[in-house]
Amino acid sequence: MKIIDVIEKKKKGNALTEEEIKFFIDGIMKGSIEDYQTSALLMAIYFRGMNIDETTWLTKYMVESGETLNLSSISDNIVDKHSTGGVGDKITLMFLPLMAASGIYTAKLSGRGLGHTGGTIDKLESIPNFRTDLSIKEFKDKVKKHHTAIAAQTLSLAPADGKLYALRDVTSTVDIIPLIASSVVSKKIASGANHIILDVKYGSGAFLKTAKEAEELSKVMVEVGKRLNRNICAVISSMNQPLGRAVGNSVEIQEVIEFLKGNMEPDLKEITYTLCLKAFEKTGKFKTKEEAYKYLDKIILNGEALEKFKEIIKSQGGNTDIINDYSKLPQASIKYEVKSKYTGYVKNIDALKIAKACKNLGAGREKKSDSIDYSAGIYLTQKFGEPVAKGETIAVIYTNKKDQVKDAEKMIVSAFEISDTEPRKKSLIYKIIN
Ligand code: URA
Repeated sequence: MKIIDVIEKKKKGNALTEEEIKFFIDGIMKGSIEDYQTSALLMAIYFRGMNIDETTWLTKYMVESGETLNLSSISDNIVDKHSTGGVGDKITLMFLPLMAASGIYTAKLSGRGLGHTGGTIDKLESIPNFRTDLSIKEFKDKVKKHHTAIAAQTLSLAPADGKLYALRDVTSTVDIIPLIASSVVSKKIASGANHIILDVKYGSGAFLKTAKEAEELSKVMVEVGKRLNRNICAVISSMNQPLGRAVGNSVEIQEVIEFLKGNMEPDLKEITYTLCLKAFEKTGKFKTKEEAYKYLDKIILNGEALEKFKEIIKSQGGNTDIINDYSKLPQASIKYEVKSKYTGYVKNIDALKIAKACKNLGAGREKKSDSIDYSAGIYLTQKFGEPVAKGETIAVIYTNKKDQVKDAEKMIVSAFEISDTEPRKKSLIYKIIN
């Protein structure tokens, strides 16, 4: 078989066979296919697409390109949750302690952020001494002992995805459903969980802009996961406005702790509880949703979930004093209050603008090698539907970059849409694909 024939076939819009896809992935891993040939095939896929069989084979051979974590010695009921990424998205950090406190095993490998704010791993690393560079053995031992662990995604899992993603990133071939689906699902399958819950976002602060695109991607990911014998579902939700009030790294950790202390922002509660309920349903923990919902409220109010979060921090070497003393988290030298220009109700807060402002304040990175200022971020004192008076504080900027404050202020003011009438509240959840 020759790669040029495979490229030619896809260029003409024909479906590839399983053997051709295996040949492609093997060639990438062995180095017998050059980057320019891989790039040409990626572009042909971009324009010609892939059917569900091709997407499934691509996913399968990406999984087989590296190690697969075997967690079956711990339990047959291990849950993984994956978000396609959003602004202020700290849901994993509430989901894991809630699951662990409920006796459900979760094993979470997560990425660093390459966007406007840090990823989950960056947020956790804002906790002094918190270790995310766990070996596979440490990771498994901790899952067994504490019901959960979270570590940085290792390169040994689905390494073909790492190679393909690096080329997609520089050849404008990231935003195409079969390639996104195979990339996400291959990493989830290689991570070893048998129940996978995908948290798929759409909107201004998300990778996919419309609910229709998110639904299309979700359907493909769920079908591929099922064909590869995983119990998988996708929860699709709006990411037009930031999740919660905090956007950044250590400010988000503070918001997670407040949530676990019972001070739950309604949007965070809606998404977190929906994902927890899906996990309960998959593992058969409760008979009814009402029972499950009440249980979650109970373990938050009696402090069990917070205690679990503390246990996770301790098990991964972090300073647990942060639970009751936020001054132990990285602190920015500048704290600046942004005031409203109008009186009315908050009708919308553009997630993308808040995210861009956050990045300029130091909370995100442009290149993988960039460092992050864990203390930088934005706290939204006013949120959707809340009344606001002209001159009142709508957000607080945290940064060490004095020269960025004015630009961030302008961006935040322009992100806020204020209306004369109180907007109607809507559920963030668009659809669940089972
Ligand atoms: N996230 C991934 O892991 N892969 C993609 O292709 C896009 C988003």
